[in-house]
Amino acid sequence: MQLKQVFDGIYSDGRRIYTENSVKGKKVYGERLISSQGKELREWNPFRSKLGAAIKKGIPSPLKKGMNVLYLGAAEGTTVSHVSDVIGENGLIVGIDVSARVMHKLVELSEERKNLVPYLEDAGKTEETSKELQGITFDFLFQDISQRNQTEIFLNNAKTFLSKGKKAMISIKARSISQKNPKQILQEEKNKLEKEFLIKQAVFLEPFQKQHLLVFCEKK
Ligand SMILES: C[S@@+](CC[C@H](N)C(=O)[O-])C[C@H]1O[C@@H](n2cnc3c(N)ncnc32)[C@H](O)[C@@H]1O
Repeated sequence: MQLKQVFDGIYSDGRRIYTENSVKGKKVYGERLISSQGKELREWNPFRSKLGAAIKKGIPSPLKKGMNVLYLGAAEGTTVSHVSDVIGENGLIVGIDVSARVMHKLVELSEERKNLVPYLEDAGKTEETSKELQGITFDFLFQDISQRNQTEIFLNNAKTFLSKGKKAMISIKARSISQKNPKQILQEEKNKLEKEFLIKQAVFLEPFQKQHLLVFCEKK
């Protein structure tokens, strides 16, 4: 199969997107493995990943080889695994999740993927995480947590871990914030983000994810 590289480390056959598998022969979430031009590629399912959905919806991937990524709401590592493929062995992804249940799977994943550091913590506790992560400079922040105060958590993390000009993405689920009109809620959340960020693009993730707005922004 002929594939085109559409972004750093991300390939496409015109319909589906893929990353090069850094752990040959191993699937992470039942995804399809294919071979092309001597590479083993893992299909990136946009129905299972907000970042995958964002790329499919036209948001350019900011991921680069060797990047340091802070990922809030890592869960069992579905999306984290694709980020790990793209950033490669000289990159680093710190995957934070508050749930001990999902952390087992993330720890297992980190045993095979040396650029992944799993971290069991509440992403809202930036006083704690900044002590642990002291000395690491992050190039990209991604957040996918369904919490009422998700935008505040994102803003606090950006203040703590990102310098001016660095990119970030947040997936906002209106229903987790309130039962009010989703359009109004999302506008309010965007207004909060604009205090700290330049908003580059915002897209709804339909049909891949229901009622989620993905905001791609740059730290002011
Ligand atoms: C929708 S899932 C994330 C899926 C993941 N991003 C992926 O694509 O594979 C949301 C995750 O956020 C975690 N979460 C919710 N609130 C959190 C918080 N305050 N700090 C850290 N993780 C949190 C949940 O435990 C859950 O695993």
